[in-house]
Amino acid sequence: MITVQAASDARSACAGWRAGGDTLAFVPTMGALHEGHLSLVRIAHDRCDRVAVSIFVNPRQFGPQEDYLRYPRPLEKDSALLSDAGVDLLFAPPPGEIFPEGFATTISVAGPSQGLCGPFRPGHFDGVSTVCCVLFGIIGPHVSVFGMKDAQQLAVIRRMVRDLGIRMEVVGAPIVREADGLARSSRNRYLNSAERIEATAIHAGLLEAGSLAASGCSDADRLVGAVRTAVSAKPLLRLQYAELVDPDAMTPMPVLDRRGLLATAVFAGTTRLIDNALLEPGRGCVEV
Ligand code: PAJ
Repeated sequence: MITVQAASDARSACAGWRAGGDTLAFVPTMGALHEGHLSLVRIAHDRCDRVAVSIFVNPRQFGPQEDYLRYPRPLEKDSALLSDAGVDLLFAPPPGEIFPEGFATTISVAGPSQGLCGPFRPGHFDGVSTVCCVLFGIIGPHVSVFGMKDAQQLAVIRRMVRDLGIRMEVVGAPIVREADGLARSSRNRYLNSAERIEATAIHAGLLEAGSLAASGCSDADRLVGAVRTAVSAKPLLRLQYAELVDPDAMTPMPVLDRRGLLATAVFAGTTRLIDNALLEPGRGCVEV
């Protein structure tokens, strides 16, 4: 595995592979890697000859009260995991490499960024789409892999790639979970043991909604209600939102009359967790 900090080095390594006829898949991350990230790397390997991964804790996607400074940065451990996973290039730039002095551009995708997390994290999706656009420009991948764990982010990136005519395929990957159902996340390490136990209620609520959908319930309020009920039974959890939306547009669906995304954000203590499930009428939970 080649590890580089400079954008110019990442650019030339990737350009060399493309010129040699290899296909290139890209997995952008913020590091603190876990099995969820590694599943994206495996999908990337299945799709292309070469795999590039970036680790960049992007200052532009964190709000002023959020965890930018304390976000975990175990670079050596991450690097070993990626090397073992057969990654060809690790691009781990310092902030000034991506956003040098005078950087003046913001990519703002309206539509899918506006609901769900949008109002609670002002500027977050602008930060995500801007950094991804810069990274896509450096790496020039044929394919980029994003997790369904961040379903709204995936929808925003798909929209940006389509709108800007970026010649790249965006691939969505299933959510990887702990044995008890909690979605893997770099932020799970912030949870104390009591919060960690209660956090399993989030997935339990989504599964309950899936069972309701499987048995014919299509009323969004009832489906969302399953998540509300599961979360409100736990004293350490606080629901921020739960909503049934169109999986591409991220707009509310009052009735599950086609595939829908049941998405939720929950505070466990001070840690904000997100999770979701794709539901189909009469079938319940389905994968991407
Ligand atoms: P990060 O949170 O590190 O996640 C990187 C990628 O891993 C994202 O595509 C995310 O959806 C995926 N991922 C995280 N947990 C997952 C899980 N349990 N199962 C499947 N995939 C999972 O998302 C970001 O970083 C940033 O916003 C980024 C896109 C890198 C831009 O800065």
